[in-house]
Amino acid sequence: DRDTLILGIETSCDETAAAIVRRHADGRGEIVSNIVRSQIEEHRPFGGVVPELAARAHVVHLDAIIRRALDEAGTALSDLDAIAATAGPGLIGGVLVGLTTGKALAAASGKPLVAVNHLEGHALTARLTDGVQFPYLMLLVSGGHSQFVLVRGVGDYQRWGSTIDDALGEAFDKAAKLLGLGYPGGPEVEKAARAGDPTRFALPRPLLREKRLDFSFSGLKTALRLAAESVAPVSERDIADLCASFQAAVTDIIATRARQALERHAELFPDRQPVFVVAGGVAANRAIGGALRAVAEETGSRLVIPPPALCTDNGAMIAWAGAERLALGLVDGFAAAARPRWPL
Ligand code: KG4
Ligand code: ZN
Repeated sequence: DRDTLILGIETSCDETAAAIVRRHADGRGEIVSNIVRSQIEEHRPFGGVVPELAARAHVVHLDAIIRRALDEAGTALSDLDAIAATAGPGLIGGVLVGLTTGKALAAASGKPLVAVNHLEGHALTARLTDGVQFPYLMLLVSGGHSQFVLVRGVGDYQRWGSTIDDALGEAFDKAAKLLGLGYPGGPEVEKAARAGDPTRFALPRPLLREKRLDFSFSGLKTALRLAAESVAPVSERDIADLCASFQAAVTDIIATRARQALERHAELFPDRQPVFVVAGGVAANRAIGGALRAVAEETGSRLVIPPPALCTDNGAMIAWAGAERLALGLVDGFAAAARPRWPL
């Protein structure tokens, strides 16, 4: 083994991102540069990500973002060991922009291409930030995904449960839209909830009585709408109480499922302290984070939540997944396809 230097490109949703990451010979990771340009302002007027606008913005900005990532790292293309780009899952127009750019750079520089699964990027980030060892349990809760994954090794994942309808971040975004709050909705709902009474509206906990580790959030959204209609016209006080009640319901759901998943982990690996990694934008939510901390303590697990900038979409996670794959000789040819759907 030797040190390797990887460029990572991420364009699967509404962040245009590029980063340079070094993987040391001993397996440690180091972020050398990490540039993220969020498209929130472009999408805000629409209350959600507009795929065509996202793809166009990636086209406009990606070259300069890659240039900055290389410059801040003091790196030339010729210094790199590989170029990693997200190949899916995600909004296909954006994925095509990043993957095609990665292929072009790889072709021009003669470096190998690693076509990275975006979810694998999230899954392996805790090894970059905290040197976590396999196996570990990951809960990914973002705008596009909500799932439990047992991470057994690079390329070796077992999905334990996922949402059967909306992702958790999406549920926050829809709740915010329904209540006339801004975009993205998660932080807005969390802010409003602080002044609210979480017991005022009894919202359902869909699927929670069932044993499987799946989620369902779309019924909760309907229940929230009905609750809002029952007190219309809604006052600021009502909005705070609705947000607090919504956040309490999803926190309860996530904490219950996490407890079940950690119990399953303990049955599978009775001699190991479970390591529980939480990733995705929703990991920034204080109420959810606090509840997960309590569950980790209760089950004797080690909770790892990477810093917010690495929980949300970024290039470093793609570069790092590329580095881990390169170390195992897992590189891709120029025929690598962009995939809108690509389960781990
Ligand atoms: O991981 P992320 O940045 O992007 C992807 O979806 O890939 O996650 C964004 C999602 C949005 O739905 C946003 O509303 C949600 O994460 N989010 C939050 C919070 N901050 C961001 N949800 C709840 N509470 C928060 N504090
Ligand atoms: Zn993501």
